Amino acid sequence: MGKEELIEALNKALGLELRAITMYAHYSAYISGIHRIHLSAHFNAESAESVTHAATVRSAIVKLGGIATTERDSTEIIHTSDYEKMLNEAYKTEQVAAKTYSTLLPIVEAHGDSELYDTLEAIYFDEQRSLEEMRMLLEK
Ligand SMILES: [Fe+2]
Ligand SMILES: [Fe+2]
Repeated sequence: MGKEELIEALNKALGLELRAITMYAHYSAYISGIHRIHLSAHFNAESAESVTHAATVRSAIVKLGGIATTERDSTEIIHTSDYEKMLNEAYKTEQVAAKTYSTLLPIVEAHGDSELYDTLEAIYFDEQRSLEEMRMLLEK
């Protein structure tokens, strides 16, 4: 497992975090009606969590001597003021995040960096918790 492959996989995760920051901040601003009371704060917290995830992944790339991406993942951020659509988009976003970190972990393991492994595993658990939370909100 080469270092370049690891950097590439980390940059994929970073791009997804940059997208999540923007998507959740956008939804936090546009959520309207009675659901604004709780969902605005919830989306804001998800955006803030993505900022910390992005910072962790970025630092790992720097430590490896790579160039951290400044571009967000190209998956479109759907503009809506419909809270159910927002929750569905959030659910899909968390699904992709959880899957991305689960494929990243074996690459990090093969690279032999146990400290980075622990850090990224913690992010993976965050994504899984968020996914479960969205699933409950959507009653899926
Ligand atoms: Fe994240
Ligand atoms: Fe997330």
